[in-house]
Order: sequence, then structure tokens, then C-alpha cells
Amino acid sequence: MEKIPEKSLKCGLSIPVFGMGTWMMGGDAKRNENDNGEAAATALRCGLERGLRHIDTAEMYAEGFSEEITGRAIAGWARKDIFLTSKVWSSNLDFDGVLRAAEKSLKRLKTDYLDLYLIHKPNDEFPMSETFRAMNRLADEKIIKHIGVSNFSVPRLKLAQSLSERKITVNQIHYNLIYRQPEADRLVEYALDNDIMLIAWRPLQKGAISEAEILKKLAAKYHKTAAQVALNWVISQPNTVTLSTMRNPEHIVENIGALDWRLDNDDVEMLRRHFPGQKKVSDAVPLL
Ligand SMILES: NC(=O)c1ccc[n+]([C@@H]2O[C@H](COP(=O)([O-])OP(=O)(O)OC[C@H]3O[C@@H](n4cnc5c(N)ncnc54)[C@H](OP(=O)(O)O)[C@@H]3O)[C@@H](O)[C@H]2O)c1
Repeated sequence: MEKIPEKSLKCGLSIPVFGMGTWMMGGDAKRNENDNGEAAATALRCGLERGLRHIDTAEMYAEGFSEEITGRAIAGWARKDIFLTSKVWSSNLDFDGVLRAAEKSLKRLKTDYLDLYLIHKPNDEFPMSETFRAMNRLADEKIIKHIGVSNFSVPRLKLAQSLSERKITVNQIHYNLIYRQPEADRLVEYALDNDIMLIAWRPLQKGAISEAEILKKLAAKYHKTAAQVALNWVISQPNTVTLSTMRNPEHIVENIGALDWRLDNDDVEMLRRHFPGQKKVSDAVPLL
């Protein structure tokens, strides 16, 4: 079993540089009634057996079924050996809504705490002060260990920091060689200055990134695959860790092979400048 490297914040939070996502496990935004979730649970178990510790899920994924699948996969593992993240959906951001959502997530995951709980994406219909009062209550009651956000721009993150008694430790964002909004908006710099971890979602742009010639050339230089170079680039960024959905166990093995070596700084910067087709705003969930 591999020991997956971790990145730590000054506040003490430590997160594996690479974890498993659960989006599209058991359905998309809707549950797929023809999928019993066993294949996905088996894939997650395969990742755990190979040393992956961070699983990222959300109440919104497959209407909660991805959390149930995650619960099945972690059953039998010592809870302290898993780093579990879930997210409250943007329609539940009133005080009671957040508390209720967390309780339901725990039930589906069959656990009594989350290592990290994120606001999935902002929603101006709810006062953020109320949302963070609830997030802090959950932390006071030890239902969640760390408070985080997702898809938050720098101004919104600043506001969140001013409203939360406890530290905002994480912002989960769309960041990869193509989608550079976190760089364009100086979020990466802000995270570093404020001891915040960025969790980059969609690091492979669903596998599409591997087709770029520039990556294939570097892959040959380092005797790695294009996907491994793309993942290594993401975790080379300051205060940044990442996640991939991997239903295919071969992807799990390949992606773990992205973690125990480093691209030279010159190559990190060359990719930053010359990767083709870069975009400054996510077409999936932009920073709001
Ligand atoms: N906070 C948010 O708003 C937000 C938004 C999106 C995602 N997320 C989280 O981030 C996680 C990761 O995002 P993502 O799944 O979009 O990331 P991704 O890793 O860019 O895409 C996953 C897709 O790429 C394929 N893949 C994985 N490794 C590969 C490899 N080595 N070569 C070729 N294809 C490969 C997977 O195939 P197989 O499944 O067949 O193995 C899957 O179809 C999600 O599961 C979710 O937990 C959060």
C-alpha cells in the first residue's frame, strides 16, 4: 500500500495530496435507479486498499446516493484512517437547513463526524451570516472537524472569513491546466497568504487533458503518462491538493503514480504559460 503524501496548513489541517471524488457515482444530480452502486463502492474500496484516504462526496450527488455508496465503501475501515469530506447544497443554506443536511449526510455515510464540511456553492438567497452560524455550531458539536467552502471567489471568501468564528480552511475549486480562474482571480495567492487549502476539482477535465501534445512530450521525458503529468502539475501549485473520480481501477493505479515524484519547476512554469486552450472562467461552476 502506498503512503499518499499530505499537505498541511499552519492551523494543523493535513490533507492527502490526492483523493477520490464521487460525482457520477450512483447517478448525476439525479439518482440512477438502474445502478445499485456496487461497482462504485468496489472502486472506492480499491482506492482505499491502495492507500487513498480522502473521499469527497456531497448531499447533491445522486440525491444522496453517492454518500450511501461512500458509507458502504468505508464500512470496516477505522474511521480515523479516512478523511471524509461532504458538502451542503446551495438550497439548504439557512441555519436549520445546514444542520438538517449535515445530520442526513452522517446517516447516509454511517458515521458520526465529517473531517471537512463544505458549502457546495454560494447562494445569495441566504444570508451568509446564518450559514456560517450553522457551520460553526456543527464544529462546536464536533459533527464536523473543519469548515470549508467551494466555488468561492476571493471577495466572497473574505466575507466568509469575516463571518465565521472558526477558520475557513478550504476552498474547493475548478482548477487544472485548462481552467485557470483561481490564478486569474489571484485565489491561489490569497490561499497561500491566508493559510487556506485549495482542493482542485476536475484536475483531468474528465480525461480530456491527456490528449494535449505538450503533455505527451513531457510524459515521454519523465517516463510517466500524460494524466500523471497533468495531476502532478496541479499538486505542484502552492496549497493545492486534488481529487479525481475513478470508477476504473486502472485509473486509480495510474493516478497514484502521479504523486511520488516532481515536475521540475521550469516544466511547471512552461506548462502554465504554454498549455493550449486555457480559459479564465470555469464553464462548469465558476467562482462566484
Ligand atoms: N465542488 C464542486 O463544485 C465540484 C464539481 C465537480 C467535481 N467535484 C469533485 O471533484 C471530483 C473530481 O472531479 P472530476 O471527476 O470531474 O475529475 P476528473 O478526474 O477530471 O474526471 C474524472 C473522469 O476522468 C476519468 N479519469 C480518471 N483518471 C483518468 C486517467 N488517468 N486517464 C483518463 N481518464 C481518467 C474518470 O474515468 P473513470 O471514472 O472511468 O475511471 C472520470 O470519467 C468529483 O468526483 C467531485 O467529488 C466538485
